[in-house]
Amino acid sequence: MNILVLGGGGREHALAWAIKQNPKCDRLIVAPGNAGIAEIAETAALDICDPAAVTAFAADEAVDFVVIGPEAPLVAGIADALATVGVTVFGPSAAAAQLEASKTFTKELCRAASVPTADWAAFDDHAAARAHLARTGAPIVVKADGLAAGKGVTVAPDLPTAEAALDALFTEPGANVVLEEMMAGEEASFFVLCDGEDALPIGTAQDHKRAFDGDEGPNTGGMGAYSPAPILTPALQDRVMAEIIRPTLAEMAHRGTPYRGVLYAGLMIEGDRARLVEYNVRFGDPEAQVLMMRLGAQALDLMLACAEGRLAEVSAQWADDHALTVVMAAKGYPGAYAKGSPIRGLDALPDDSRHMVFHAGTAVSDGQLVSAGGRVLNVTARGDTLREAHDRAYAMLAAIDWPDGFWRSDIGHRALTR
Ligand code: AMP
Ligand code: GLY
Repeated sequence: MNILVLGGGGREHALAWAIKQNPKCDRLIVAPGNAGIAEIAETAALDICDPAAVTAFAADEAVDFVVIGPEAPLVAGIADALATVGVTVFGPSAAAAQLEASKTFTKELCRAASVPTADWAAFDDHAAARAHLARTGAPIVVKADGLAAGKGVTVAPDLPTAEAALDALFTEPGANVVLEEMMAGEEASFFVLCDGEDALPIGTAQDHKRAFDGDEGPNTGGMGAYSPAPILTPALQDRVMAEIIRPTLAEMAHRGTPYRGVLYAGLMIEGDRARLVEYNVRFGDPEAQVLMMRLGAQALDLMLACAEGRLAEVSAQWADDHALTVVMAAKGYPGAYAKGSPIRGLDALPDDSRHMVFHAGTAVSDGQLVSAGGRVLNVTARGDTLREAHDRAYAMLAAIDWPDGFWRSDIGHRALTR
């Protein structure tokens, strides 16, 4: 079959790498792709948030199946547009993508479905929000309501920090702000495929959101991840399915907007209970890199079964292994950074399926691989133990020559010291 993947980050490189290994894949196109993706698939320039452009491209290229990587095209209704013209698509409708696009939508849904989450209140009025802050005090979490790539969130330890965050958000006209109880505990990510009726857990991961070692510095899109997340024990996963995932899916179906695609639950775990931090309506980046490394070719069968409403017929076969990825980012990220600096040494890395360098922001300029974004490379390895995957990934990283990059040296620290 002809398969189109939308997106151009490390997540999409990992998705393309897994799909490509499946014999069902005859032709693979990734739009827009990146320099690493171009080594394994055709790439195409395409406005992936334009429904008319995407459906026309799918028709011209006789695409049978579309996998949507990032949230923006989902929120823009690309899955709806493809479904309307009869193309099989992996990813939720725009209505179901509200689970990521709107924090108040999700918070209200949690209330309706009795899903455990932090207490919250939403405000479109600055003075009312200020008054609420004065009543609740700190610590408190201040969030912009809308897609902000994790950057619209301030976890405020004290009142002045919370007030400053609030004031900054209310400088935008028409601001909507959510004030939330700060939940204590450890975060983990849980991934479930949903076809509108059935739900199939397909793995756990932990991400490292802060830029620097020791979980210091600003929040980023993610500086590294590993899978599985040992804190999400099988018993806790069953509890999350019963208390969080299934009630959410039932409520979405009841509202006439059934959820189809991968649902990524960000969880806060304290003792033996988990509460929902947020939903994302796509795979995580860099969590997809470690999940795809472990799932390999079957990822395509699972995503197809999900898109075709056949999840009840399939199961995920897991090797008893671990994967870990370290993000190499441009110095300055998540703030301002330079592009175009040369990256060397990738060709000398071992050609071994336990080692993969997934590309995020890369390009080729005059035959030389160069940086072209904030997060640039995802150095990923598998191992029988997390320690083995960790050591393998860091050994690869040491062989990559990119003076303008930085990375965390402590990816996996929680699970390694557990
Ligand atoms: P969000 O965009 O809602 O996922 O928030 C980004 C990050 O902020 C999360 O991954 C958490 O690390 C943190 N965070 C968000 N909400 C809370 C909360 N209620 N309590 C503690 N930490 C939170
Ligand atoms: N790594 C976090 C995310 O993809 O949202």
